[in-house]
Amino acid sequence: MSAFNEERVLSVHHWTDRLFSFTTTRDSSLRFSNGHFTMIGLRVEGKPLLRAYSIVSANYEEHLEFLSIKVPDGPLTSRLQHIQPGDSIIVGRKPTGTLLIDYLTPGKRLYLLSTGTGMAPFLSIVRDPETYEKFEQVILVHGVREVNELAYHDYLTRDLPAHEFLGEMVTRQLLYYPTVTREAYKHQGRVTTVIENGQLAHDLRLPALNAAEDRVMICGSPAMLRDLKVMMEARGLKEGNTSTPGDYVIERAFVDQ
Ligand code: A2P
Repeated sequence: MSAFNEERVLSVHHWTDRLFSFTTTRDSSLRFSNGHFTMIGLRVEGKPLLRAYSIVSANYEEHLEFLSIKVPDGPLTSRLQHIQPGDSIIVGRKPTGTLLIDYLTPGKRLYLLSTGTGMAPFLSIVRDPETYEKFEQVILVHGVREVNELAYHDYLTRDLPAHEFLGEMVTRQLLYYPTVTREAYKHQGRVTTVIENGQLAHDLRLPALNAAEDRVMICGSPAMLRDLKVMMEARGLKEGNTSTPGDYVIERAFVDQ
């Protein structure tokens, strides 16, 4: 059996000239956990050209959704950004990854810390009812350069709280904190900065992030991961992985590829 399924693009949404998302059909045999990534791509001159992408859609949904940046000379994204409904796309049959709530030790609050397209796996996690069963509060932080890069902002503030099944849990337990670094906005500063200077805790009326109560998932650029890892370790949180649960887990946002 092939390692890939051929899927069909259903819709494409361009958020900015640097950022887009799209939905595809989903083979009924494809299984994944919320937070997983898989290889996706296009056939170029007959050969599969693939990159890792976190799955935005939840694992109970009928379609798949992905969020991507557009790299003008990126081998895949320079082509992928032109996809249209009806086009064919290749999707790996073996999703994997470390951003699973199962890889975290029990805690009171779950912090989902992201920059840029690093927010993708968290959209799946905030749509998983189990997330709200395991944690009293879920804090989704999204750091971007400009306001128009706050992908899914309206979905998170308007649609999800009104969702037929998840709405009540989301309204009670999910705190969404978009923060912008290169424009004026209600929340400003890097994800690292707003944690360190107490702004995030102050705005959301939460205690400072601490190892006793808080569990953390991190997804963003290599520099962001490095900085947050140092901050987590300094606060006494231990890193988890697919074999040993921990207080925080990390995944690289698969961007510059
Ligand atoms: P900044 O504007 O200060 O560079 P990008 O679009 O380059 O992926 O950046 C997304 C967001 O991540 C930007 O707000 C950027 O802030 C921020 N960022 C860049 N490096 C880090 C880092 N080491 N830690 C936290 N946030 C970062």
